[in-house]
Amino acid sequence: MRLTREVRFCLSGGLDQPPLNSWAGWPACDGIVPFLLLRATISGTADAKTGFLCNITAMDRLLREVAIPHLQEAWANAPGGCLPGASALLSVWGSLEDRTLASVKLESLELHTTPFQHFCVSRGRLLVIVLTESFEFSASHRLCCSGLSDEENLELFGKCSNPNGHGHNYVVEISVAGKPDGQSGAITDHREFQRTVQEQVIDRLDHKHLNTDCSEFDHLNPTVENITRVIWALLDGCFGPAKLHRVRVYETPKTYADYWGDSVGS
Ligand code: NI
Repeated sequence: MRLTREVRFCLSGGLDQPPLNSWAGWPACDGIVPFLLLRATISGTADAKTGFLCNITAMDRLLREVAIPHLQEAWANAPGGCLPGASALLSVWGSLEDRTLASVKLESLELHTTPFQHFCVSRGRLLVIVLTESFEFSASHRLCCSGLSDEENLELFGKCSNPNGHGHNYVVEISVAGKPDGQSGAITDHREFQRTVQEQVIDRLDHKHLNTDCSEFDHLNPTVENITRVIWALLDGCFGPAKLHRVRVYETPKTYADYWGDSVGS
């Protein structure tokens, strides 16, 4: 069994007073300062008496006594005020390794540097950091199989087979995995990463009718599953030395597809 606990905090401000509103973050924001989320996932067996895998107050204490001060200090000493998320998270993992909670294992840590970007390290892949960043594009599509009549497509795909199409605001999460560079602390050149996704994916698909404007779908029904696989194919191998780890596409806030390439989950 696994349990995940999240703490929200500012990179400035003291931890010497008890939190008054940890929902909004503690140390609290009383100015414009970096605000982060840290998620810790533990694994183990729930206690037969308490039903707890681990008391979350003990998790909070560990994160607040060790992880948050560690990040605050690293940020205060970062050259040029820029703290690379990948190496910072790896360093936090190291700081927690000797302080694991009784009878449970720390499985992963996720550091959310913005609502649209986070870094993750897992016990199974130590030294490897996964960077996930979201992008968006708007496009129209029509779900249909080319060998079927309009009536048959309507029966199969319902209103999604409307002959003139319909639109979505797609959100794409791109995850890349790699080891932090010894010099920069990053797993990939971030500007180059963003430029590649912009040029290879967003410029190609944004404000297009996928069926008629994008050759990738000439013979492929543009379902969210196929869009996800197409985006994987467009990006795979583009981020050396980091590797494309996962592509997630949200067609709506309620529907998304994940693809890890042919090796996993396919
Ligand atoms: Ni649709």
